[in-house]
Amino acid sequence: MMKAVVIAGARPNFVKIAPLLRALRAEGVTPTLVHTGQHYDWAMSEALFADLGIPSPDVNLEVGSGSQGNQIAKVISRFEAWLDEHSADQVIVVGDVNSTIATTLVAAKRWIPVAHVEAGLRSYDRTMPEEINRLAVDAIATWLFTPSADADENLLAEGVHPSRIHLVGNIMVDSLLHSLARAREIPVVDRLGLDRPFGLVTLHRPALVDNDARLNAVLGALREIAVDLPLVFPMHPRTRARLGDAAAMHADGRITFIDPVGYLEFLHLEAEASLVLTDSGGVQEETTVLGVPCLTLRENTERPVTITQGTNRLVGLGPKEIVAAAQSVLASKGPASLPPLWDGQTAPRVAAILAAGTPAVSWVPPAIAPLIDKRMTAIESTEPR
Ligand code: UD1
Ligand code: UDP
Repeated sequence: MMKAVVIAGARPNFVKIAPLLRALRAEGVTPTLVHTGQHYDWAMSEALFADLGIPSPDVNLEVGSGSQGNQIAKVISRFEAWLDEHSADQVIVVGDVNSTIATTLVAAKRWIPVAHVEAGLRSYDRTMPEEINRLAVDAIATWLFTPSADADENLLAEGVHPSRIHLVGNIMVDSLLHSLARAREIPVVDRLGLDRPFGLVTLHRPALVDNDARLNAVLGALREIAVDLPLVFPMHPRTRARLGDAAAMHADGRITFIDPVGYLEFLHLEAEASLVLTDSGGVQEETTVLGVPCLTLRENTERPVTITQGTNRLVGLGPKEIVAAAQSVLASKGPASLPPLWDGQTAPRVAAILAAGTPAVSWVPPAIAPLIDKRMTAIESTEPR
């Protein structure tokens, strides 16, 4: 029987693997789940496993936090050691986090074919750690499962052979549609004592939260918005670590700073919010599907369909622009929208393709073949006769 190893390490990965594990089982494949331990707080890991009905991982590599290089190195060495003891016919990775690239490298070097779910997204900003991960994973994975047509275009522009690209839709939407009815029943608004209407905030990108001046300026903008619309802000641990007591300082009753919440509570807050302010990737997508206006506090996005076909607006990090955008959004709500194939059936599409076995892909893009021929000819002509 085919042995499929599914990798997850960080919060957004858990949302993506839940439907994938179900769909693989429906295809008769019993997946092995490897948790790298990149995220480890209860609220960042177990809480999502419980809400999403994900079984306990077969192994937790417990890599924990570290610098970019250190964290990737730990995943590489521990996943390689695990593979020494366990076989794998396919390794399935999702998203763009450090666990994604590290496990892809290990598998590819063992000639184990890698499937990348959420391939092809590009912010074209290489100062983002995730952009380096996306480029590297897509260069060496066998199957590239893309969420939207722009991702296909990005890959084709990089010279990827079309036979490796499979447009399957957005797997986050599978989890969202699967969980929304249950999420709506969760009494989180009462638990937190929030007044309606309210806005929801999440921020965790290093470009924003690791820069004190930018973070303080954005907090100032949030305080201004909160005068008209109270805000609830589940804080990512990276953000909590940077804000520390500053969060208490800014908490004047209009912004409710809380720990991260589970997936169902978060989905409830997202669905009920009048406005979402975020720098998260997944939240840009979820708000599009929920039809909730989203302001993305970044200079770029790897998810442009959430703007062209969804409810998202890229507003940058300027406080004046953020406040003005919030005011104009509150005055006019946009309609909900489901980009093509964001229909809750992405995981079954992926599983059906994977269950069919490894394709006879050409590992060498056609554009490179003449270069190899040229080099081989040169080598042959210099060989001693
Ligand atoms: C990672 C991903 C990012 C993703 C985000 C989702 C990379 C390069 N980044 O960023 O793409 O959007 O996850 O949430 O892979 N920490 C805890 N407890 C935890 C996890 C983290 O306290 O359970 C703290 C630690 O201080 C750690 C910091 O958060 O140093 C950052 O964690 P890390 O996994 O390195 O990066 P994220 O910012 O979470
Ligand atoms: N999420 C959650 N609890 C929270 C904040 C977010 O369950 O307190 C979920 C959210 O619904 C989405 C995912 O986490 O599915 C997004 O993860 P995150 O923003 O950490 O990462 P990104 O998508 O930016 O990589």
